[in-house]
Formats: sequence, C-alpha cells, structure tokens
Amino acid sequence: MTSGSSAVKQLWPELEWIQDAGLRAKVEQTWVRAFELSPLTPADLNRIPFTLLVPNCPTTFMEHKRCVVHISRHAAEAMREFMGNALKIDMDTVIAGAILADVGKLLEYETKNGKAVQSSRGEMLRHPFTGVALAMECGVPDAVCHVISAHAAEGDLVKRTPEAYIVHHADFMAFLPFKNLKF
Ligand SMILES: [Fe+2]
Repeated sequence: MTSGSSAVKQLWPELEWIQDAGLRAKVEQTWVRAFELSPLTPADLNRIPFTLLVPNCPTTFMEHKRCVVHISRHAAEAMREFMGNALKIDMDTVIAGAILADVGKLLEYETKNGKAVQSSRGEMLRHPFTGVALAMECGVPDAVCHVISAHAAEGDLVKRTPEAYIVHHADFMAFLPFKNLKF
C-alpha cells in the first residue's frame, strides 16, 4: 500500500461521514502529509499496537482509532437527540477531530526491529502538538485543531468544547479498560 490519498481513503472509510467536502479534503490531506513526514507506513498502522503504555497490547492502531471515531459519532448523535436544544454539537467537527486526534503519532512513533517505539521527536513533542501542527499546515479550522489539542491529558488544562469532550471521553473509554488487563 502506498501512503498517498488512496491509501488514506482505504485506512479511513469514515472520511465519507464528513459532510463538508472542503473539510473532508483538509482532513485527508493532513493524513497524507503525516505519512510524508513519518517513518511509519499505512500497513504499520494495521499492525502496531495503539498504545505503548499497555505491554503486548493486542489492539492495533487502526482498530482503536476507528473505534474512537465510531463511539464519538454515536455519542454526539445521542447528545444531539436528547440535549440538542441546549447544547450545540457540530458533527463534522466531532468526526474530523476524532479522525485527526492521533495523526501526530505518525511523528511520535518509529519502528525498531519491527516494534513501535517513541521517537526522539516524540519525547520532545507528544502527538497532540504535532497533530495540531500538521492540521494547521493543511488549513484545518481551529475548532477541529482544538479537538486534537485537547483530546489527551494535556487538554485537562484547557476549557474543552462539547466536541472536544466527546472525543476525549471516547478516546479514554477505548483506552482505560486495557490498563487493567494483562496480555
Ligand atoms: Fe491520543
């Protein structure tokens, strides 16, 4: 698999869920740009674990990331159905933010002897920071960059938007249970 636009579309069928064609193209371009700068390939993402914090984690990067996008969409739909009058939630921002939340890991990880490890750049700049840098370079709007920047623990220090809360909790509910399991 190459790392151009067709490879990104193959990795991310959920890009089609983004209604705004301009935003969809920017999100796709951010992933293309990340692969241009990354030592990782699209095939690596279907092989390496989604986290280095769980030893021998059997869930792959793409399984975890796509799960987070699906949870985020369902959560946003439920919140809009029951609380939509009080809480405005932009679905494109949720989906784009969830698809891009971990794009910076392409600059945080490298492979050594086939295993994913943190790169020296990753030690300096965790993926919320590199993710925002990549997305801004591709013209992704601030509301989506905010979701990227605030999805992980760093975001506990900022005032999250509703869209950022959704992606943050979707990400953590698909991560924290693994910390209590042994593989
Ligand atoms: Fe993350």
